[in-house]
Order: sequence, then C-alpha cells, then structure tokens
Amino acid sequence: MDATAPILIFDSGVGGLTVLAEIRKLLPNAPLIYAADLAGLPYGEKSEAEIAARVAGLLGRMSERFRPRLITIACNTASTIALGMVREVLEVPIVGTVPAIKPAALQTQSGVVGLLGTSATIRQKYVDDLEANFAGGKVLLRHACPALVSAAEQKLRGEVPEPAVFRAAAQGLRGQPRGEEIDTVVLACTHFPLVEDELRAALGPGVEFIHGAEGIARRVAHLTQDNEFHREKPDFAVVTGPIDAAAGLDLAFREYGLEAVAQF
Ligand code: DGL
Repeated sequence: MDATAPILIFDSGVGGLTVLAEIRKLLPNAPLIYAADLAGLPYGEKSEAEIAARVAGLLGRMSERFRPRLITIACNTASTIALGMVREVLEVPIVGTVPAIKPAALQTQSGVVGLLGTSATIRQKYVDDLEANFAGGKVLLRHACPALVSAAEQKLRGEVPEPAVFRAAAQGLRGQPRGEEIDTVVLACTHFPLVEDELRAALGPGVEFIHGAEGIARRVAHLTQDNEFHREKPDFAVVTGPIDAAAGLDLAFREYGLEAVAQF
C-alpha cells in the first residue's frame, strides 16, 4: 500500500465535511480528498436510477484519477440507494453512511424517534429494514426536508438561512401523531449536523440528535488500522461542474483543512 494513497470522502455537497471532520480526528495523518458533486446536488430530489448511475460513474472515474485506498460515501441518500451496486463495481473498500436508527432506538426513553432525511432517503427499503431490524417496539416518525440541505449549503457559504426552514422541519416531526413525544432525532443526511444548533432551537429542549459520523470514522480507522500514512501535499477538495459554484466555499473548506479546490 502506497503511504500517500488518500481516503476519498464523497458527497453531493458540503454535508460530507461532517464525516471528514470525524475521520480527521481519528486519522490525523491520513491524506484526504473531499469530493462534492455540486453539479448533481441535490441528490434527495433525484430518482433512484439517476443517483445510482451518477454515483457509480463518478466514483469509478475518481478511483482511476486519485487511486484512493478507501472511499467513504458520506451521503445517506447515495449510500441507501447505491452502496451495494458501487461495491460490486469497484475494487476499493467502500464505507457508506446510513441512518443511525439503531443507536437512536437504544437511546430513546419515550420510545418515539424522529428521522430527518432527504425525500429519496426516507422512502428507501434500506431505511424500512433498519427500522424493522433495530427499532422494533419503537415508533419512528420520518420527515423529508430538502430545504435543510440548501440551508446547510448557505450556512457554509457564510449566508444566513431563513429561520422558517428550521421551524418547518420541526413541525414536520412534531405535527405527526405522537410527534410531541419525540426525544431523539436521527439526522439522516450528512448536511443536517451543520445546522444542528438551529434545529435544536426549533425542536425545543429535551431532544437528543444522533448522526453516524463518529461511527463511520471508527469504521474507516478500523479498516485502515495497519496502514501507513504519509501526506505529501495538503489535503484538497474537488467539485463537479463549474468551479464558480464552489466560490463561496473556500473558507469553509479551509476550516476543514482542505487547502485548495479544483474542478473534477
Ligand atoms: N448529504 C446528502 C445525504 O446525506 C444529501 C444531500 C442532497 O440532497 O444532495 O443524504
């Protein structure tokens, strides 16, 4: 294994930075490349076929270009739809990001768990299976909030998202039967931890948020435990589509240790 081989972290936009941050904590010496498919954002409003073809195609081309030792799909939408297929077509190990329903079900005291995700994620059989296998006897209330994806993208560009977006997300959960009993919310989209403070304020006290980033980082660390790492140049980001789309993101990328942005 080439010690300079990077770990590639992939998302449709800036959401995967929440996963990158946890990977960096555990593997500070690992060379990282962050890939944002800005030309495909938002995945949550696309069809399953479109997402699967896009993610498999892009990751294939990125693997050829960057020769990663491991790929993290830091996107619940892409993972719940395309993880199996991507694993079949690529030889590189792939770690996915899927809704943290299991820890939420173990943690809830009221027995009522909320789940916020994209429209595409919340309708997946993958999520039905996680609910059936790990949340038996609990109530799982799902709500799709694509507007939170845009809000997180805006926030990382230094803009202030419309507060009504967070109130609407909270109401989407609270307004369902037994919604007032929710004490645990699964953030089933990697963008959403970026607006956790705003969501906390909208949902009110007594709600715990759970997302998968720490668990994913532990999995990545485990799979690379015997690897040597050597960073020969600073970590960087690549974006699809016109580079202008990433113009406002330089500062955020630098805060996450990504020193340059290039077009893929
Ligand atoms: N960050 C992605 C996720 O975890 C989705 C955002 C999008 O809709 O593209 O689901």
